[in-house]
Amino acid sequence: MKRLLFFTLLLIVTPLIAAQTESNKQMIKFIDSLMGRMTLEEKIGQLNLGGVGNPKVVGSAIGLDEAIKNGYVSAVGGFDINAAVDAQRFAVENSRLGIPLIIGLDVIHGYHTIFPIPLASSCSWNIPLIEKSARIAAQEAAAYGINWTFSPMVDICRDSRWGRIAEGSGEDPYLGSLIGQAMIRGYQGENLSDSTTIMACVKHFALYGASEAGRDYNTVSMDPVTMYNYYLPPYKAAFDEGAGSGMTSFNVVNGVPATGNKWLLTDLLRKEWHYEGFMVSDASSVAEMADHGMGDVQEIAELAINAGLDMDMSSSLFVLCLKEAVKNKKVTEAQINESCKRVLIAKYKLGLFQDPYRYVNNEELKTKVLSDNNCDVARQLAAESIVLLKNSDNYLPLNTNQKIAVVGPLGNVKGSLLGTWSYGFSENRMNTIYEALQEILAGKGEATYSKGANFTEDYCIYDGQYTLPTESLIKQALIDVKDADIIIATVGEPSSWSGEARSRVNPALPECQKEMLRELKKLDKPIVLAILSGRPLILTDEDRDFSTIVMAWHGGTMAAEALSDVLFGVTNPSGKTTTTFPRHLGQIPIYYNSLNTGRPYSDFWATTKYIDCSNEPLYPFGYGLSYNNYIYDKPILNKYIAYGDNDSIKISIDITNSGVYLGQEIVQLYIGDPVASISRPIKELKAFKKIELLPGETKTVDFHLKVDLFKYYNECLKYDWDEGGFDIFIGPNSKDVQTSKIIWKKHDKI
Ligand code: GLC
Repeated sequence: MKRLLFFTLLLIVTPLIAAQTESNKQMIKFIDSLMGRMTLEEKIGQLNLGGVGNPKVVGSAIGLDEAIKNGYVSAVGGFDINAAVDAQRFAVENSRLGIPLIIGLDVIHGYHTIFPIPLASSCSWNIPLIEKSARIAAQEAAAYGINWTFSPMVDICRDSRWGRIAEGSGEDPYLGSLIGQAMIRGYQGENLSDSTTIMACVKHFALYGASEAGRDYNTVSMDPVTMYNYYLPPYKAAFDEGAGSGMTSFNVVNGVPATGNKWLLTDLLRKEWHYEGFMVSDASSVAEMADHGMGDVQEIAELAINAGLDMDMSSSLFVLCLKEAVKNKKVTEAQINESCKRVLIAKYKLGLFQDPYRYVNNEELKTKVLSDNNCDVARQLAAESIVLLKNSDNYLPLNTNQKIAVVGPLGNVKGSLLGTWSYGFSENRMNTIYEALQEILAGKGEATYSKGANFTEDYCIYDGQYTLPTESLIKQALIDVKDADIIIATVGEPSSWSGEARSRVNPALPECQKEMLRELKKLDKPIVLAILSGRPLILTDEDRDFSTIVMAWHGGTMAAEALSDVLFGVTNPSGKTTTTFPRHLGQIPIYYNSLNTGRPYSDFWATTKYIDCSNEPLYPFGYGLSYNNYIYDKPILNKYIAYGDNDSIKISIDITNSGVYLGQEIVQLYIGDPVASISRPIKELKAFKKIELLPGETKTVDFHLKVDLFKYYNECLKYDWDEGGFDIFIGPNSKDVQTSKIIWKKHDKI
């Protein structure tokens, strides 16, 4: 039977492989022929994103049209999409060889339909839904002419002071890898030349999320074992998934800027990982190597291309310096050819040579932009991203015949719900939280709104309107909420406090919002805290003072409806944190997959404990509550000992929904490797399953353990595993787990 299956598969697959090989041959033949007609300047021009203006020499800029006409431009940003489309037409019709442009944009969580920020979506742990959101983002972007997105961002981050933690998938390499791969599948689909797919760009390569002190663009120093085991896996997973491009990061890696780091861009990426796509710099990061002290403009341009960078984003230094570099034999024409070929291959795969206007103003696709379907997906993902942190008085879910007072700076705004890097959104498709609650209460209960506080202490212009001092807003709010049955306090950060160059030294609620909460608490009314932010905030005070807290992030176009769905139980919250929430600023960086110390939390006087704070986080990685209670039975193993590389162990656990609501639960499996060739994390996430349970329903969840789960990079960077005992942890989060012990031997039974 197996032989028959094998030969049947062979019959199916062989012609497919042959066809693929033939089409690759045709592609290379086309590109070789084209490059044979290109001048050195034109080949260098294919390595330039943006106009031609040397940021270091004011006044040297030449107009974009002239640059395109000269063949100096290969790609443009799609921030002004009409200008970008005009540039495309100009390039095809006016440059000597008519080579089409790639039009790139940061479509990192949707284009017109804005999905929750990536950090929020990661808390859904819903990989298929995240992939679906990327598919929709690609369709909406392609409809307007975008054919390249600077996404997924897969930077691991353990520091909520960093504003760009919003753009990634948190602190775990396993989950971050799965999400990055799902987004690439969503963007690129099965066929990159399809007019509804766009090319992905893995960023920021590499280790940007480990910027010292959470300060953006800052130094990264990291040992190779930490890199390989915690920070590099999501990049490798994303490149292996077939991303068409990657982007270098602003930071130095152990003293050498990533944009000019030969170990990173050639030794690791090309020789070790065999990545074949092209690498673009981050915006002006080539020029910024001068500030990193790497030399003058000529030297840093040579450093970048010699390190393995293929395309320069907006520095113009490749166009201005590489011809000289080839003349002075600092760079070979073969290197230029290699980078040019990578870029032309990407354009060919996008189908741009066959039809340069394939993506331009696709009227049919535009009809689906912001469609009900797209908004429904955004609403579901936003709801599944919400994390219920506390509900100890069971104020939630709300019922619709209550008088509900919405109070707080995020209660009646739209733009601040979208999150960082939101292009193309239209507010007319959005509701504010207050409006969404009014809608669901119509004819039954009642919703009121009072601003209650400004975002920060100094009142000024926000969302285009002059504001009153917070003390007046609080006074008014205390009057407005007098008859309310319950208060929804909408507090947190505006979108403008999140993302690039938005590091905060104290990632907590601003004092004026805390003041408002303190005054509201004195009323002794039920209060629900709805936290809307682009990062995990330090919520220790709020956790002490309030019984009900939902983490709603920046949820995108449908943020208000999604929060309303969760507050009223239309959707039972299922989100789980993908970062560790610190109890205190001084704990940062704090993360679940940390190593043990020689003095763990024992009662001995000299231990790893702080003397002025608990070591424990406020909320652990993988944490989130539901309106149900899920009962975890004891895990059952089908055996305790396994042998060799091909064996497996099945571990099963029954989960029962003892609540009265339909709900979803994310069952998590972690491993511990107590004895190994290097000190290993106390636990590491290696599998999870998101299951749906009816009230009273029990489901058995099976995990199949393979030896790959135990592999890691040892001190010699060999990817291997150690025979011996392992701990298997299963639970609803990284802390409340049940432990099973197994043994795995290297060799088969004797
Ligand atoms: C920015 C960001 C990068 C983005 C690029 C283009 O500086 O660092 O993530 O893709 O420039 O907008």
